[in-house]
Order: sequence, then structure tokens, then C-alpha cells
Amino acid sequence: MKPRHFLTLRDITSDEYRNLIQRAIELKAMLRACKPHAPLQYKTLGMVFEKSSTRTRLSFEVGMIQLGGQAVFLSPRDTQLGRGEPIEDTARVISRMVDIIMVRTYEHEKLERFASHSNVPVINALTDLYHPCQLLADMQTFFEHRGDIKGKTVAWIGDGNNMCHSYMNAADLLGFRLNIAAPEGYLPNPDVMHAADADIQLYDTPEEAAKGVDLVVTDVWSSMGQEDEAFDRKLAFKDYCVSENLMAKAKPDAIFMHCLPAHRSEEVDAAVIDGKQSVVWDEAENRLHSQKALLEMLMA
Ligand code: CP
Ligand code: NVA
Repeated sequence: MKPRHFLTLRDITSDEYRNLIQRAIELKAMLRACKPHAPLQYKTLGMVFEKSSTRTRLSFEVGMIQLGGQAVFLSPRDTQLGRGEPIEDTARVISRMVDIIMVRTYEHEKLERFASHSNVPVINALTDLYHPCQLLADMQTFFEHRGDIKGKTVAWIGDGNNMCHSYMNAADLLGFRLNIAAPEGYLPNPDVMHAADADIQLYDTPEEAAKGVDLVVTDVWSSMGQEDEAFDRKLAFKDYCVSENLMAKAKPDAIFMHCLPAHRSEEVDAAVIDGKQSVVWDEAENRLHSQKALLEMLMA
């Protein structure tokens, strides 16, 4: 039987997405109540990281420990992946020894090749094109603070990047409207946008996109792998900082999210990310709970 992968949010249904959110909220409450829950005893997660990480690595590793299993960290620096062993061979070997694998890499196509040669479920822990695990946590956070997101409006301010693409998928599955303000040359991938059966609008300015929304989201201007473009990007994005003035265009009870790491005074002002509308620390913590729900689901 073919394993069930989670490479984009398109690999789950709307019902499964909502169930994962509810389960994550439940697992969080169980953890707070010190209720042991270890269904993954003797199970191992392989973690392949070709890019840096704080939250993703920690949340998967701690999540596996809490569920009774183990996690093994693998980086190209000290594996044969960094010395050119083909991704297909690596996938075949790792998947013979572990029960589930998460991969953080550059090209999305590389992740797809890895998954197609794996005997066990593969999770996308970020590619250049998508970051679906972050969207599990973001939506759990919205549901906890404001209830169901169906019918609400989200403003994406900044780069049309991997996070933006996963927001488009989430808008489709959960039924929210997505306003996007990205500078010319940094718009989201049109194929991803057109594949989403959702109400997605592009705006010329952040102010227009943020008007009357329930949630404002942004991300770094230069993603991992784009370090050489940082100078040009700073110029292109200079009017795309989420400031208190911009937040004032949203609904008075709007919340602010950022997947982190953040650059204060670039994509977001300190007054916003450290202010009362920001839910970024809950959002970061929820990576743990939502991925535990995902691990449970894929290994059921
Ligand atoms: N948000 C996120 O994925 O953070 P890390 O890069 O630290 O894993
Ligand atoms: N867009 C960012 C997200 C980091 C979690 C990146 O890809 O670097």
C-alpha cells in the first residue's frame, strides 16, 4: 500500500483540516493537564533538514518524544546527502529504517521525488513553494482566538512566497477570503493561485489589502536561499512593513501573525509584533500541538 504523504495542504480534505485543528486543541489541553498520551511508542521520525530551523525541528522532536516515540536529525553537513548521494536512494534507505519522515528542502520537486521513493509517510517541513505545517498552527491559533475562520478575511502583506502559497491552499479548504498585497515582481505563483478555488484578491497597496480584515499576516522579505537578493528586496518591499498604522486599517479586533523568525523594522514594526494584537507566540507554540495531531493522523 502507498504511504500517505503531507506535501501540501491539498493532501488533506477540508474535514480533515478541521479535525486536525480540533485534535491539536485537544492535545494541547491534555498536555496542560499532564495527561500522558504516548501512542507512538517505538516509532521513529527521520528529520531531513537542508535549511536552518528552530521551531520546526524543536516542535517535531519534542512532539515525537511526547507521543512516546523518537526523532533522528539528519543534515546534509554530516550525511551523504551533502556529498551528492541521490535523493531517491536516500529516501529508499531512510524509509526502511524509520516510520515517518519530515523533509525541509529547497525545490518542491525534490521533496516530491523523495516522497515517491519513500515507503513511509513524508511530511513537507518547508520547501521554496509551500509551508503547510505552519498553516496547521496558524489556523489552530485563529480558531483558538476568534473561532472558525470560514467567511472571515485575511490580509497577506509582503512576499508572494511559500507561506503565501500555503495561505492560498488554506483559504480554499477553510473558506476564508484572502487579500494579497505584494510588490510587482514578487507576486505569488499564478499556478498556485489559479488552482485554489477560493476568493483571492490582489491589491496594489498594503492599506487596501488590510482594510476591514480579521487577520493580518506577513513573513520575511528574503526567504532562506534568497540571501543574495536581500538588498534589492529591501528596496522593493520598503512600503510593505506591517506598522501600527497599517493594523489600524484592519478590524479593531484583528489579530497579527508571523511564522517567525521576524525582522523588526523590516516586515513588521516592534510595536505590532510585540503589541496586544499579536498572537505570534501562541502561533509558534501551536506548531507542537498541530504537528502532533498530524503525526497521529498519518501514522494511524
Ligand atoms: N516558522 C518556522 O518554520 O520556523 P523555523 O524556520 O525556525 O523552523
Ligand atoms: N518564507 C520563510 C519562512 C521561514 C519559516 C522562508 O522560507 O525562509
